[in-house]
Amino acid sequence: MSVFQIPDPAASSPILVTGGAGFIGSNFIRLWLARETAPVVNLDKLTYAGNLENFSDLTDRRLEFVRGDIGDVKLVKDLLARIRPRAILNFAAESHVDRSIHGPDDFIATNVVGTFRLLECARDYWQRLDAAEREAFRFLHVSTDEVYGTLAASDPAFSETNAFKPNSPYAASKAASDHLVRAWHHTYGLPVVTTNCSNNYGPYQFPEKLIPLMIHNALSGKPLPVYGDGMQVRDWLHVEDHCEAIRCVLAKGRLGETYNIGGNSEKANIDVVHTLCDILDTERPRADGNSYKEQIAFVKDRPGHDRRYAIDAAKMTGELGWTPKETFETGLLQTVRWYLANPTWTERVISGAYRDWIQKNYSAR
Ligand code: NAD
Ligand code: TYD
Repeated sequence: MSVFQIPDPAASSPILVTGGAGFIGSNFIRLWLARETAPVVNLDKLTYAGNLENFSDLTDRRLEFVRGDIGDVKLVKDLLARIRPRAILNFAAESHVDRSIHGPDDFIATNVVGTFRLLECARDYWQRLDAAEREAFRFLHVSTDEVYGTLAASDPAFSETNAFKPNSPYAASKAASDHLVRAWHHTYGLPVVTTNCSNNYGPYQFPEKLIPLMIHNALSGKPLPVYGDGMQVRDWLHVEDHCEAIRCVLAKGRLGETYNIGGNSEKANIDVVHTLCDILDTERPRADGNSYKEQIAFVKDRPGHDRRYAIDAAKMTGELGWTPKETFETGLLQTVRWYLANPTWTERVISGAYRDWIQKNYSAR
């Protein structure tokens, strides 16, 4: 299904973004169109996490949307032959740890098999390019810090040389995809770069992840479900800083390398929830005048819950000159204000299937 067509066939060759109807992909496309001239083709299967509303404000005619699966070899091969991209950026994935615990199948299908098939299509396409195009082509794989496993409180942050020790089905499926990407470079010479990023937050994040879920539950008068003791630590990065880092790696990253991206902003979950409550108490006080903190409920922990993630982003900073612009405090305030200003976005993404998920994940806790 094409929503927008590229108008000018002589325009510079496009990039192909997979998973561009999701949280980070849609933010990336928005940033790309604002900063770059090349068109974008967005290939997305539109799972529960993919949402046309995430880019409905983008009327730029350089954007084309194609509905499809990264694992559909015929569709991807035909698409590559038609649009002739100069890069493929693979954001498409099943991305939620709790869902991977309840049902890992889709994670293996998309993150492992889907990435494998996309790599094979990319290799076939890349081998047919002329020498100059082959030289310029990039396959950028977007991945996560969760491939490295968990850290103790006193451990140094994850660097690119850390061994992979994934603990959840999600993390294991992403680690497998990272290994495939590495092997396709080492064995076939495919020009790849991989990014491993920490937890993102910002506009258009599906309300199953910690920050948008807490905002939605708070405003709906529901409990704020904190897993275990709430002392698990994540290194939070605003999504626009992640997207800018990806643009930077695409332009300047060395082939076959991996780049860790993080916000240098480690927070315990309970502190994140307290900060969200403080912001909401000011921005949208409860009718009874009490704090949203009254809604916090400690619930049964996630099985295999990783205790701490932290990213050492020295390679991004030293080699590519990237640093995050947003602090956690300014970024979180901006994010809460976005959700307050866009209630219909949340209402539309919360379908019957979302209610089924909430029931499945929280009722037995
Ligand atoms: P998301 O779940 O919001 O979006 C994923 C998108 O991929 C959706 O639009 C979905 O429809 C699409 N998709 C799923 N399976 C597909 C398939 N088989 N073919 C085509 N499209 C498919 O995820 P996100 O948070 O935007 O994450 C994007 C990428 O970034 C993922 O690879 C994730 O592992 C990685 N990442 C996420 C975070 C984070 O904090 N969210 C942090 C680091 C890395
Ligand atoms: P999440 O946003 O699912 O990201 P990830 O598991 O990839 O880090 O969760 C972030 C942290 O918040 C994680 O430690 C689990 C915790 N969490 C809760 O305490 N309650 C919740 O309802 C959710 C969704 C997450």
